[in-house]
Amino acid sequence: MAEFKIDKKLCKGDGRCVEVCPMQILKLNEKDKTPEFILGGAEICINCGHCFASCPFNAIKLAGLNSDSTVKLDPANLPNPKQVEMFLKGRRSIRLYQDKPVSKDSIEKLLDIARYAPSGINRQPVNWAVVMGKENIYQLGSLVVKWMENLIAEKSPMAEALRFERLVLSWKKGEDLICRNAPCVVIAYGIKDDPMVPQACTISATYLELAAFGLGFGACWAGYVNIAINTSLEVRKFVGLSSRAYAGGTMMLGYPKYEYSSIPARNPAKIIWK
Ligand SMILES: Cc1cc2nc3c(=O)[nH]c(=O)nc-3n(C[C@H](O)[C@H](O)[C@H](O)COP(=O)(O)O)c2cc1C
Repeated sequence: MAEFKIDKKLCKGDGRCVEVCPMQILKLNEKDKTPEFILGGAEICINCGHCFASCPFNAIKLAGLNSDSTVKLDPANLPNPKQVEMFLKGRRSIRLYQDKPVSKDSIEKLLDIARYAPSGINRQPVNWAVVMGKENIYQLGSLVVKWMENLIAEKSPMAEALRFERLVLSWKKGEDLICRNAPCVVIAYGIKDDPMVPQACTISATYLELAAFGLGFGACWAGYVNIAINTSLEVRKFVGLSSRAYAGGTMMLGYPKYEYSSIPARNPAKIIWK
C-alpha cells in the first residue's frame, strides 16, 4: 500500500486526483479541499499512481510506490501521430539476426520498458526468464524438437495443425525454425492459477517486442517454444520455470540482419458497430 501525502501548499484542490482514481477511494477534505482517502480506501489502493501522475502541481507524493523511479512526462519526448502510426505499422517480426550477442544491460533496458505494460488491477504479475548464448539456444531448440517428435509419434492433432513434421525435418537439416538462431529468447511468465496472468504476459511481451523495435533490436514471437514450455516438463525445466508457472509470451531477440523498407498490407479491420 502506498503512503499518500499531500503538499497542501502546492495542492489547488481541483479534485483531478479524486476523479482519475480508478478505485474511487479519494475524496476532497471538507475543510481545505485537499484530497484524502475515504474510510478504508488505503487498504484497497492498487498503487497505480494515477493520482500522483495526473496532478499538474506535483502536490502528491506516494511514498512506498517506488517513488525514486517516477519520471516527469515531457510531451516533447512523445512521438507525433504520424510517427506513432509508422512505428506500430512498421514493426516486423525479425527472424534473421546478426551473429552478435545481446548484452544483459540491453535486455534489462528493454525489460525496464516492458514492465510498464498494463496489468489487471495493476497487479504486475509478470516475471521474465532469459535464455542466452548459442549453446543454450541450441539446447532449447533441441528440446522443443524432441517434444514435437513425441507429439508426431502420438499423432497429436496439434502436431498436424502446426506442421511439426516440417519443422523437425528442417531442424535435422541444420535449419533452426524454432528459435531462428536468435542470440536470446525471453519468456514472460506468471503464476498459472492467476486468471490475469495470460493477458498480462501477452501484453508485456508485446511491449518488449515494440521496445526492441524502437531501440534498434529485432524480435519475433517464439510460439512453438511458448507452447512447449507450457506442455513439456523438460522444456519448462530447461528454461528454469516451475510447474506452477505459465508462459504467456516468448520472444526471440537479437540485432536484425536486415532493415525493412516498406510496410506490407494487412486485412482491413473487421468491426461490428452497434
Ligand atoms: C502468438 C504468436 C506466435 C508466433 N510464433 C512464431 C514462431 O514460432 N516463429 C515465427 O517465425 N514467427 C512467429 N510469429 C510471428 C508471426 O508469424 C508474425 O507476427 C506474422 O507473420 C505477421 O508478421 P509481422 O509480425 O512482421 O507483422 C508468431 C506471432 C504470434 C502473435
